[in-house]
Amino acid sequence: MLELTNLESGYELLQVLWGVSLRVDEGEFVALLGPNGAGKTTTLRTIAGFLSPIRGDVTFQGRSIGDAAPSAVSRMGIGFVSETLNLFPAMTVHENLLVGAYAVKDKRQIAATRDLVFELFPRLHERRDQLAGTLSGGERKMLAIGRGLMPSPSLLLVDEPSLGLAPMATLATFAALKALRERGVTILLVEQNVNTTLHLVDRAYVLEQGRIVLEGTGTELLGNSHVQEAYLGI
Ligand SMILES: Nc1ncnc2c1ncn2[C@@H]1O[C@H](COP(=O)(O)OP(=O)(O)O)[C@@H](O)[C@H]1O
Ligand SMILES: [Mg+2]
Repeated sequence: MLELTNLESGYELLQVLWGVSLRVDEGEFVALLGPNGAGKTTTLRTIAGFLSPIRGDVTFQGRSIGDAAPSAVSRMGIGFVSETLNLFPAMTVHENLLVGAYAVKDKRQIAATRDLVFELFPRLHERRDQLAGTLSGGERKMLAIGRGLMPSPSLLLVDEPSLGLAPMATLATFAALKALRERGVTILLVEQNVNTTLHLVDRAYVLEQGRIVLEGTGTELLGNSHVQEAYLGI
């Protein structure tokens, strides 16, 4: 479904990614793991169209999207839940969800997706008329994911949903991602919470200093000595 081939990308004065190749098949739940500064967010930004590849390519459902703008990438069915959330604090939970659906014309589809979001995140349903700025950190993450779901993406990119969350909120967020995947949404998850993530996903890649250094199933990577030493403290 998604394929990165020898991708090189970065910023004006700093190349971050060096020959990154990875793929996500339809229906898969895949993680991209690695330390701070490895280039995980840069990878997602490049897929989502906010950065253009220097070399290499990104293809989605067989089409090259390397040079596509973020709005075009979103219309093709890729949702991006960024780490910075970008919610509208002075708008309610419900209004923030509707903003996420701005490009959807069909009112019934909007209502159905909103109901799905409320089913995945009952807390958002309880707080539908509360201002986003008054939500807890965990609830804000849920709202950001919910908003990312409003255009009904077939592939969801999620950047560090557990960052800054208490353990209970982290578990709730991971449970929602698992439920989403069971509904057929393909997910590429960026995380630093390596242990929990490897128990949750089908496959994972490890990115270090802009290069993929390992890939395998969750179980394979949990048993890998580099993963155990560098990320699990075993
Ligand atoms: N907007 C930017 N301009 C210049 N350099 C950036 C920018 N954003 C991130 N970087 C740099 O790119 C590198 C990779 O960052 P990032 O992809 O955010 O890593 P990760 O998400 O794995 O922590 C880091 O060295 C970071 O400082
Ligand atoms: Mg990041």
